[in-house]
Amino acid sequence: MCGIVGYAGNKQAAPILLEGLSKLEYRGYDSAGIAVRDKDKPVSVVKAKGRLSKLVEKTDEGHAVKGTCGIGHTRWATHGEPSEINAHPHISGCEPKGGTITDDSGVVGVHNGIIENFQELKDKLLRHDYKFYSETDTEVAVKLVDYYYNKYGIGPIDALAKTMVRVRGSYALAVMFRDYPGEIWVARKDSPMIIGVTKGESFVASDVPAILKYTRNVYYIGNLEIARLTPGDVHFYNLDGDEIRKELTEITWDAEAAEKGGYEHFMMKEIHEQPKAIIDTINASVKDNEFCFKDINLTPEMIRNFKQIYIVACGSAYHVGVAAQYVLEDMVRIPVRVELASEFRYRNPILDKDSLCILVSQSGETADTLAALRLAKEKGVRTLAVVNVIGSSIAREADDIFYTMAGPEIAVATTKAYSTQLIAFYLLALWFGRIREVIDHDRCIALLDEMRTIPAKIEKILEDKERLQWFASKFSNAHDIFFIGRGIDFAISLEGSLKMKEISYIHSEAYAAGELKHGTISLIEDGTLIIGVITQGALYEKTISNMVECKSRGAYLMGLTTYGNYEIEDRADFVAYIPKTDEHFTTSLAVIPLQLMGYYMAVARGLDVDKPRNLAKSVTVE
Ligand code: F6R
Repeated sequence: MCGIVGYAGNKQAAPILLEGLSKLEYRGYDSAGIAVRDKDKPVSVVKAKGRLSKLVEKTDEGHAVKGTCGIGHTRWATHGEPSEINAHPHISGCEPKGGTITDDSGVVGVHNGIIENFQELKDKLLRHDYKFYSETDTEVAVKLVDYYYNKYGIGPIDALAKTMVRVRGSYALAVMFRDYPGEIWVARKDSPMIIGVTKGESFVASDVPAILKYTRNVYYIGNLEIARLTPGDVHFYNLDGDEIRKELTEITWDAEAAEKGGYEHFMMKEIHEQPKAIIDTINASVKDNEFCFKDINLTPEMIRNFKQIYIVACGSAYHVGVAAQYVLEDMVRIPVRVELASEFRYRNPILDKDSLCILVSQSGETADTLAALRLAKEKGVRTLAVVNVIGSSIAREADDIFYTMAGPEIAVATTKAYSTQLIAFYLLALWFGRIREVIDHDRCIALLDEMRTIPAKIEKILEDKERLQWFASKFSNAHDIFFIGRGIDFAISLEGSLKMKEISYIHSEAYAAGELKHGTISLIEDGTLIIGVITQGALYEKTISNMVECKSRGAYLMGLTTYGNYEIEDRADFVAYIPKTDEHFTTSLAVIPLQLMGYYMAVARGLDVDKPRNLAKSVTVE
C-alpha cells in the first residue's frame, strides 16, 4: 500500500499535492515526496523520510517548489527500507544529491503496488547501462518506461503499454515525461487509482479523499488501461493504443467516509482488507509452490538442528504465538514455548543456544518485544522477527525477518496484522516441517492449496455479518463475557476476548474450557454470556459439555463452530458458523466473527472504535 496523487492544471501544484497526500497518509507514512515541473523547465523532486509533515516543512508548505504539474507519493515500504533515497518519486536519470533533485530526467514517476519480477527487469536494464540509486521496484519501473520510450520513439502510450506487458504484479503508476510538460500519464493493474476532472484541472489519486476538495467528478481507470491527463481533460487508452470512452461518476460520500473507503470506521475497513492481506502475505513468500523467504537466511541445517522455538510478543501478537504453538508443534514436532515479552525479559530465561526465538510485532517498535529480542541476541540465540512495518527497530535488529503484508493498520485494535501474522506462522511451520521431514511434499502442497482458500472463506463469513450485528446489539449491555475453548480454540478465545474488552469496555475473559471447574465457574450467573469456540473435531464434545455446565447455572450460550455441526443448536442459544478448513488453520476463520462481535458491541455502545480509551497503536514504553 502507498498513496499517490497527481495534478495537472493552472494553479501551483505542490500545495495541492501535499494536501492530497495528507488525506492518503493512512495508506503509508514512512516517507513522502513530490515531483513538480514548471512548464518545460527541469523537474524538481523533493523527498523526506518520516511523516508527511517533514516534507511539508522541507518544501515550505509547497511554496518552495514551483510549477503547475506534479505528482506526489506517501510510502509504505515494500522493497527497500524507509529512507529518503528509497522514497518516491523516482527518476530515469542519475543519483539524486541531498534528496532534492533538479535534474532533467526523461521520466519521473510514482508507484503503488508490487512489481514481482523487478529483479529480472533490473538485470535487463543494467545490461543496457542504466544505473540504480535505490533498492525500490519503482525505480525499475520508471527506468523501464524510459527504456521503451527511447527505444521505440513512438511516444508515451507505447512506452507504457510495453512496460505493462513486461511487468508482473500490481501497480498504479503515474509518470511525467520531459517531452510532455504539463501532462501526467498513468497506468494501472490491480492497484486502486481514480482520476478527477474539473474546469482547467485534472487529478489522479489512489483514493477519493485526496481530491474531494477539488472535484467530485471522477473516472475509474480499468485494469491494464492507460490515461493521459492534461489540464481539465483526460483520455484513456487500452494496451493496443486504441482510445476508450468512459463515463464520469459523481462521488456522493462525505470526505471522512471516503477516507475510510465508505466504511464507518478504519477497524471495519481493515477487517474487510484481511482476505487481500492474506493473499499478499502468501504470495510474497511462495512462488510456484516453493518457499522463498527473501529476508530469512536460515539454512536447512540450522532448521534441522533447532531444539526449541520461543515465540515472544505482546497482546494480540502474543495470541498469534499461542495459536502458532499448536501448529508448529504438530507440523514440525519441535517444542515451542510462547512468552509474554514483558515477562520474558525480566525472568532471566535459560535459553538453549540451539534454539530460535521468534519475535512477533505489527509495529516493530513495541518496547518489551524489542528488549526481548536484544536479550535473546545477547544470549547467542538466533532471532527471527515477524513484523509488519518495514525498517522498524525490531526488523532492523533481528537476524532474520518475515514481513507480513498487511499494509498500514490504523485502527488501534489489530485485525489484519493479526491475520497475516498467523499466515506467517503457517508458512514457517510448513517450511520447517518439510525440511525436518515431518510433512511430505504432497501434504505440503495440499496444505498450501488449503491456505489459499482462506481469503474466500473469510469473504463468506463477512457476507453474514448482519446476524452478528443483531446478536451483538442484543448483548451490548452485558457485564461479563467468557470465551472458552480447548487447544487452538483456546488461542482463538484469547483474541476474541481481547477484541471484546479493548473496544467495547465490557469485562471479558478467555478460559481454557477445562479450567472453568477449577474456580471460575462460580462467576457464572443468570444471563452471563458464554461464547464457546469449537472448531477442533476431537475436542468438540468436551467443550460442549463445559458449555452445558455453564448453561445449567444460568448462562446464555453462543457457539462458534464449523458448518455441519448443526446438532449444537439443540444446546446453544445462538450459533455462528464458519466454513470448514484444515484444523490447523481454523484460527484464521474463527477470529473473524469474534472481531465483528467486538466491533458491533462497541458501535452499539456508541464508543470510539478506532481509538479506544487509554490505548495507543504502538506501545514504545514498557
Ligand atoms: C490489540 C493490539 C495489541 C498489540 C500489542 C502488540 O488489538 O493491537 O494488543 O497486538 O500492543 O503490538 P505490536 O504488534 O505492534 O508489537
